[in-house]
Amino acid sequence: MNTDKQKAIDYLEYWGLKEKPFENTTDPDFFYESYDHIEALERLFYIVEEGNMNFGMLTGEIGCGKTITRSVFKKRLSPLQYDVIDMENANLPFNFILLECIQKMSLEEFNPRLQDDELYYLLKEFKKLLKIKIVQRKKNLVIILDEAQQLSKEAIIELKNLTNITYDNQSYITVILVGQPELRGVVKSLPQIDQRISLRFHLNPMSEKDVDGYLRSRLKVAGHPDGALFSPEAVSVLSQVTGGIPREINRICKLALDRSFSLRLDYIDEEVINSIVMDLNKQDGKIHG
Ligand SMILES: Nc1ncnc2c1ncn2[C@@H]1O[C@H](COP(=O)(O)OP(=O)(O)OP(=O)(O)O)[C@@H](O)[C@H]1O
Ligand SMILES: [Mg+2]
Repeated sequence: MNTDKQKAIDYLEYWGLKEKPFENTTDPDFFYESYDHIEALERLFYIVEEGNMNFGMLTGEIGCGKTITRSVFKKRLSPLQYDVIDMENANLPFNFILLECIQKMSLEEFNPRLQDDELYYLLKEFKKLLKIKIVQRKKNLVIILDEAQQLSKEAIIELKNLTNITYDNQSYITVILVGQPELRGVVKSLPQIDQRISLRFHLNPMSEKDVDGYLRSRLKVAGHPDGALFSPEAVSVLSQVTGGIPREINRICKLALDRSFSLRLDYIDEEVINSIVMDLNKQDGKIHG
């Protein structure tokens, strides 16, 4: 067996793991329900269940878990009740967003005619599909746009117009914008949208208690029997230097597990965390510490 492969197996065995615990993944299985993440999810469910709230917004600091929350939300929505159109990158003009929705809703390949009346034509097709696939089946359509801070103002206004479509005075579409903090500014500059956002939530970094829970949870999902690999002091330092941002925590923990494995330590202590932070700072890795 090649040595890298053997080393990876030894590493997992050494820590009692089945897979690596701190990869940057949006796999819902790795989701840890921190105080804020639970609240974000609850609010997202509320907006779709309520039915008449057409516009919601989930913002959050960079790397705090917006995208993984989006994946979990999507996974937990009942397919009997909801059709979900989920776009990872909303950096598209409205026509393309609409086209994407049509393609995801229709079973056959849809090739639009590229003419001046394209938007008219796309809207007509969209409404047709909405009626057949959503209204007639008594379902709701949820459109989730990630990285929505990149949407143009025109696209946001057009999305609002989409939520105006009703059948028998009932609305069937909920649009959820997910994005970095600047999305709040974009929306604020559009009063007609700002007033229609019935629900918003801002995801903050995790508290120290949640950092502890996060580490244990990720380790357990990765196969560790009890998730206790970090000393309380290590958790405390980690929480301070990362400011409670999950992506930063993953970055340092990955390195900490590697180093502690090389040193054959029994658990991860604060010295290891401090030495990694110092190394990252030397390389200008942007960790304050
Ligand atoms: N609640 C959580 N449970 C498990 N892992 C999480 C959680 N929140 C964040 N993470 C981890 O942190 C990393 C960053 O999360 P995510 O990509 O969802 O953040 P983001 O807010 O969408 O970031 P960006 O602002 O760059 O879009 C992910 O790889 C994920 O593994
Ligand atoms: Mg994201």
